Amino acid sequence: MKKKVILDVDTGVDDALAILLAIRSGELDILGITTVNGNVSLDQATQNTCKILKLLGMEHEIPVVRGANKPLMRAAHFEHRVHGSDGLGGALQDMQVDVLPAHGHAADFLVDQVRQHDGDVTLIMTAPLTNLALAVMKHPDLVHQVKEVIVMGGVVQGFGNVTPTAEYNMYVDPEAAKIVFQAGFPALTLVGLDVTRKALLTDEHIQALGDSPLSRYIKESTADYMQRYYERNGVRACALHDPLAVGVALNKQLVTTHPYFVDVETKSELCDGQTVCDFQNRLLKEANVHVCTDVSADEFLQLFIHALRA
Ligand code: RIB
Ligand code: CA
Repeated sequence: MKKKVILDVDTGVDDALAILLAIRSGELDILGITTVNGNVSLDQATQNTCKILKLLGMEHEIPVVRGANKPLMRAAHFEHRVHGSDGLGGALQDMQVDVLPAHGHAADFLVDQVRQHDGDVTLIMTAPLTNLALAVMKHPDLVHQVKEVIVMGGVVQGFGNVTPTAEYNMYVDPEAAKIVFQAGFPALTLVGLDVTRKALLTDEHIQALGDSPLSRYIKESTADYMQRYYERNGVRACALHDPLAVGVALNKQLVTTHPYFVDVETKSELCDGQTVCDFQNRLLKEANVHVCTDVSADEFLQLFIHALRA
């Protein structure tokens, strides 16, 4: 039996790679993909998601369901510098999208699918957590029916990628993240920058994909992203933030995790969106998150290449 999953995305460059990995792995039953504003607008993220499904000829197989068009309480904070104004690094500009998104809101889709497949659905969250927060607020019993939640987001021992302390997905909607972290999910795994920054796709990896429409898309969509990364970090690479969340769903052994109490800052001048991890249990609170502290990066890259090569 394939693992039942729902992907929640703000399709940008790495969300697209996560969707491609999820489909090409052949190991996941993707019940649907929910979209949310984040890297780009809700409309753009939704259109990009539909394009990626069309690239693999899956546009009629996997429903795309639109979600929140802004964070719970804050203004949108797009990341066009990293993902381009279109969100896919300028790739697939000429592709027309024929299949429209499914009716209804992502939060209701999440609840409906989890109830229909009670105990069997893994939620893979690679965007600001607005949709899941809305779902939990509407149906708190959701937390006991989900099999697992895997969240790409946060950073617990390093620096942020939006502010010195905050990672993007947490920074955009910290109130939503706080709701999700405090909701009582029994199996919430945090795939933070601590590990995703080690999962670096390079030009050599892309060459190993061979020549295909898919490898040409990956090369084109990551070109600017790699350049940005080089300018900031001195390495020409594409950090596979979102694909690693899919990797963890495929093989939990890829990462080392530890249970800690983690909360999200929402009332700070400097640290809003920080994922505060209580490593020494100083707050005497029960652990609520399985925090990824290390990753077998080479093994993950090999999995990624194996799934996507021609
Ligand atoms: O910090 C990286 C995360 O923020 C990724 O999900 C990326 O797509 C952006 O949404
Ligand atoms: Ca994302």
